[in-house]
Amino acid sequence: GEVSIFSGKLTQVQHYTARVLKGPSSVVQTLENTYLGPILRLKTGQNVRVRFTNQIDQETIVHWHGLHVPEQADGHPRYVIDKGETYVYEFTVANRAGTYWFHPHPHGRTGPQVYSGLAGLFIVQDDEEQAANLPTGAYDIPLIIQDRTFDANNQLVYLSGGMMQRMNGFLGNRILVNGQPDPVFKVASNVYRLRLLNGSNSRIYKIAWSDGSPLTIIGTDGGLLEKPLNRPYVMLGPAERIELWADFSNYTPNSSVKLVSLPFDGAGGMGMMGGMMGRRRQGQSLPNGSGFDLARFDIVKKETPALTLPIVLSKIEPVDIRAAVNANNPRTFTFAMGMGSATINGRTFEMTRVASDEVVKLNTSEVWRLVNGGGGGMGMMGGMMQMPHPVHVHGLQFRVLERTPGAGWQSMKDGFVDEGWKDTVLLMPGMQAKILLRFVDFSGLYLYHCHNLEHEDMGMMRNYLIE
Ligand code: C2O
Ligand code: CU
Ligand code: CU
Repeated sequence: GEVSIFSGKLTQVQHYTARVLKGPSSVVQTLENTYLGPILRLKTGQNVRVRFTNQIDQETIVHWHGLHVPEQADGHPRYVIDKGETYVYEFTVANRAGTYWFHPHPHGRTGPQVYSGLAGLFIVQDDEEQAANLPTGAYDIPLIIQDRTFDANNQLVYLSGGMMQRMNGFLGNRILVNGQPDPVFKVASNVYRLRLLNGSNSRIYKIAWSDGSPLTIIGTDGGLLEKPLNRPYVMLGPAERIELWADFSNYTPNSSVKLVSLPFDGAGGMGMMGGMMGRRRQGQSLPNGSGFDLARFDIVKKETPALTLPIVLSKIEPVDIRAAVNANNPRTFTFAMGMGSATINGRTFEMTRVASDEVVKLNTSEVWRLVNGGGGGMGMMGGMMQMPHPVHVHGLQFRVLERTPGAGWQSMKDGFVDEGWKDTVLLMPGMQAKILLRFVDFSGLYLYHCHNLEHEDMGMMRNYLIE
């Protein structure tokens, strides 16, 4: 069917209201009472036609994050449309089952538009997932985690800290889940599938259960893992997803347990200075790396679980690095901050240009080395340029081959889930990752960028061309 998304209005505090106009209810689900967009549910192989009408007073375009779509459907900023105009997306859902999402992608305005609510989930289902027999319906809960700051009239405040906060990335002082502060989920003593999206502009979460139970991870950016993993906590950078198997069957009715974000080191950046500015301007601040609660689960009713955790979740092809055309000579991209600049290999975003090292061949695989190169000089200012960069590549899912330690390593080393398909990889200052990418089906101009949305808006984004 045809769905309309993002039809909304802009008020003086840049709070957009997204509303679904039409679409079959099996496809379009709305979250209650939220500034967020809808949840679209589709199946692998389905043909999708989305008619997107821009009703905000700025140019914008929608990007399907994580989806393998033709260039014209990828929401590149050169396709922005003005207020009143319509853009029609047509593609076939090629991805495996998983939790993908959508958000605007106009150059220089992605941060404020996502902040104002223009984002939603794109959940894909397939037969393999069905065979895994996971919790569904009311037992399948999305948690879109975002930080926001409110003014005295409960309106959203964006970037009150000026340039410092822009370089650091926006950090709000309230944590919301699905657009709600202090969220409480009423659950049964049963098993649940929790789909977590870090939909924040810049904040990183170190996700854990409040009672110290390990997390049981069943999926990541590109869908289900091969088998469940247990971890004491998970690091979740902006745009990353993680899926949990949550077993509340050992909790007695009327008890509760929380998902929390634990404190961690190494987020560095302008935390301190941004914090000082923030405190002065808005009464309090919550630096990146702080600990806080995310959501509370109240066990309100007794049930006996009918489902058990599958031993095998899905089939994931083994990584074959020999298939890469440059296995011994990876392409290297270095992400670095300067005072007011954000670059990849020293270059900032250019709308339609690609450099010679940004051209790849269709039907090849490549290894890319992604480097968080820190930034600008020594001493206090240099230190503050050491910021995390969650690096995202459009149009495909990749595999993480290796990761080297970086800032804050001791406080997060068990929290990187690099096992499955990924589209975003969190790089702490000084950290490097090697990834294996495969360019198939579509040629054209795609993007790779830092998913700290303020860094992206500052130009830490580049095209790559598949030819
Ligand atoms: Cu979710 Cu280009 O990004
Ligand atoms: Cu994307
Ligand atoms: Cu960045």
